[in-house]
Amino acid sequence: MPTPVDLPLGVTLDELERLATRVAVTAGRLIVDERPRVVSASSTKSSPTDIVTVMDTRAEDLIRRLLLEARPDDAVLGEEGDDHLGTSGVTWVVDPIDGTVNYLYDIPAYAVSVAAAIGDPSVPGEWQVLAGAVADPALRRVFHAALGTGARVTGWDDLAHLGATSAVDAASPTGGSRSTELRVGLAADLSGALVGTGFGYTPTRRREQAELLLDLLPQVRDIRRIGSAALDLCSVASGSLDGFYEHGLNPWDMAAGWLMVTEAGGSVTGPAGGAPSSALTVAANRVLQPQLLAVIDR
Ligand code: IPD
Repeated sequence: MPTPVDLPLGVTLDELERLATRVAVTAGRLIVDERPRVVSASSTKSSPTDIVTVMDTRAEDLIRRLLLEARPDDAVLGEEGDDHLGTSGVTWVVDPIDGTVNYLYDIPAYAVSVAAAIGDPSVPGEWQVLAGAVADPALRRVFHAALGTGARVTGWDDLAHLGATSAVDAASPTGGSRSTELRVGLAADLSGALVGTGFGYTPTRRREQAELLLDLLPQVRDIRRIGSAALDLCSVASGSLDGFYEHGLNPWDMAAGWLMVTEAGGSVTGPAGGAPSSALTVAANRVLQPQLLAVIDR
């Protein structure tokens, strides 16, 4: 049963999930099909290594246009700025390319993240994700979820084969069983856990993150730094990682992936078990998550 939540008037979770998946896949196709032979940084943000490429900007423009064509009264909060204020109560939180550095180097681990939320995404604990999708272009698949209805992954090629217009159609009873339901892994002890993490872009934050890693690494099975927080969270949701943590994430890095984990039966919190935020995001199954949090949240 869907978690009770006050939906804005006239919105259904199904509609939001369909739109999120369609838009994420369309932008995912754009960044692959029109990837320049040589990708370069067009500007930088928090540090010289925090880059924006032309394709980040093009993908965000496309996402914004598709969302506002479908739902003109919604707000859009995107990584690359130019935010749109809405009146419907729904805010789309979007990352056109999560894993931009991987995209720059043609490392196949980047994603398009599109999530519909209510509340104020700039205030931790004051917003909730209703539906979302994370397109994984390198593996031609899309993760998608709506609040209280579970999370799934569907292959792009299966969508074409089925003649489905969105992953939600492919996941529907008439679409067949080409979607796989996501479930978090079963690791119950930190010592056997494969844990993903990420690093921010500023030298000061990186030093702190490296110091924490010195403490954590001897306590876990191993650490992975995949380079896309959205894919890290989807990996926790699908059991390909047992846990994930990072300090300094923005709402667009985590919004859709956060919903994937909770809909796959896991838990995502911030400091002291509160809402995930830029201060801290820790995700894992419900047994492991408090153990990971206890080591990280000091
Ligand atoms: C980054 C990725 C990375 C994480 C950084 C994020 P971007 O997003 O998610 O894995 O470690 O904190 O900023 O800049 O590629 O959209």
